[in-house]
Amino acid sequence: MSTPHNAANKGDIAKTVLMSGDPLRAKFISENYLENPVCFNTVRNMFGYTGTYKGKPVSVMGHGMGMPSIGIYSYELFNFYDVENIIRIGSAGSYRTDLKLGDLVIAEGACTDSNYVNSFDLPGHYAPIADFGLLRKAVEAAEKLGVRYEVGNVVSSDVFYNGLDRVNERWAEMGCICIEMEAAALYMNAAKAKKHALCMVSISDHLFKEEALSAEDRQTSFRNMMEVALELA
Ligand code: HPA
Repeated sequence: MSTPHNAANKGDIAKTVLMSGDPLRAKFISENYLENPVCFNTVRNMFGYTGTYKGKPVSVMGHGMGMPSIGIYSYELFNFYDVENIIRIGSAGSYRTDLKLGDLVIAEGACTDSNYVNSFDLPGHYAPIADFGLLRKAVEAAEKLGVRYEVGNVVSSDVFYNGLDRVNERWAEMGCICIEMEAAALYMNAAKAKKHALCMVSISDHLFKEEALSAEDRQTSFRNMMEVALELA
């Protein structure tokens, strides 16, 4: 069995999948962290691999940019491939000036401007939240590995170049920590499929101050996040 977007057969994918926006990040993880990785997908270059980490089966796969993209891939993993846990590891722009570039944010909840949520046809505003078991394990792993982290609300937006008036200020006034583009759709797909999801992001830029991360620092902070995520396998 395969889908229009995933060439894997049932059984090729582990119960826990780490997903990154960039499929080359998934390739990097498979080459640097997994034992005996096997590639299960190359459709649209959305590479996916299954191997083991510390002896436990785990898969890694790209999810592309934005909610329509992660919506497709996570839906298929949860509903067609019997995947139980999806952990997104991504990047985000910080609203908090006290955070450092490279800091880890674990998305407890995901506010959104996306119409994706309307496809669930609910009688009100659903609050997309992380799976508490995965969230707790991620916090424990971050503590153990000595990685700086924050836990709280993030914003999942459909719009990277947003022209709305004070759009980021208004989310920040509600205590949102940072902005990314996928968590809300992932959390809603998990809820509907009765599965488990967690999104964690590394701060790659600031919305309210100038600061840039060098390519090397970006890699190091991404490694910290990968190591936290792999502990959840
Ligand atoms: N906006 C949305 N997504 C992002 C950003 C941002 O500023 N930075 C990294 N991912």
